[in-house]
Amino acid sequence: MKRPLLIFDSGVGGLSVVGAVRKLLPTAPIVYAADSAFYPYGTKDPHEIDARVPALLGRLAERYDPELIVIACNTASTIALDTVRAALDLTIVGTVPAIKPAAAISKSRVIGVLGTAATVVQPYVDRLAADFAADCTILRHGSHRLVELAEAQLRGEENPLDEYRAILGGLLTQPGGAEMDTVVLACTHFPLVEAQLAAAAPRPLNFVDGKEGIARRVAWWTRDIDWPDAPGDDLAVFTGRDFDPAPLAPALARFGFTRIATL
Ligand code: DGL
Repeated sequence: MKRPLLIFDSGVGGLSVVGAVRKLLPTAPIVYAADSAFYPYGTKDPHEIDARVPALLGRLAERYDPELIVIACNTASTIALDTVRAALDLTIVGTVPAIKPAAAISKSRVIGVLGTAATVVQPYVDRLAADFAADCTILRHGSHRLVELAEAQLRGEENPLDEYRAILGGLLTQPGGAEMDTVVLACTHFPLVEAQLAAAAPRPLNFVDGKEGIARRVAWWTRDIDWPDAPGDDLAVFTGRDFDPAPLAPALARFGFTRIATL
């Protein structure tokens, strides 16, 4: 029995990362863990995230004995990555806003960072902007509504495009917004609704996220592992015994999770 990859988020956003990992490692066993009991992270006090995530990942690591852990959440990574790495004796792959690839393609040099309210104000984002996009204007907008829309989309609910238009307006109406040509999807939930964002945009925009980079990182760390010949019945776990994952079951199955549990 191979040790699994543990891919973690507050909710279903990390499935965008799962999709990219599955493309490179189609048969690697994955345990997907969502902290539904404490979702959403993006509106929480960063100190709470910094205390909770290492403790929870410690428990999950004991239970599932993963090969490595992917924190498939920008909010948790920008706040708690160092604390998690200090607490756990395991390879931890984090998720950081894809400002570097965005700066590589932006022609107008105006980049929007769309994340959670907690992520967009993190010093980590300031550092990425200074290191990789010093010649760019960086606009930031935090949207909890977009996280909710992505969750709803995965439950199979219809989302009106007007809502996406309003969220993009949070960037486009800022000074410099008229020149913005590239938007960093700095929350793992957002690539799940990229098509809706593109459809709602008043003009073509480049949407950039880090999921392929994370998948390459995971493939590199596990390059010596001889994965099984065929995919197995992978498990998705949700924290909070009263959380009802049933509405998510079809979407989870599309990402290869045919077993669902709550903890
Ligand atoms: N998916 C998470 C992220 O990448 C955040 C969603 C939430 O607010 O819980 O930031």
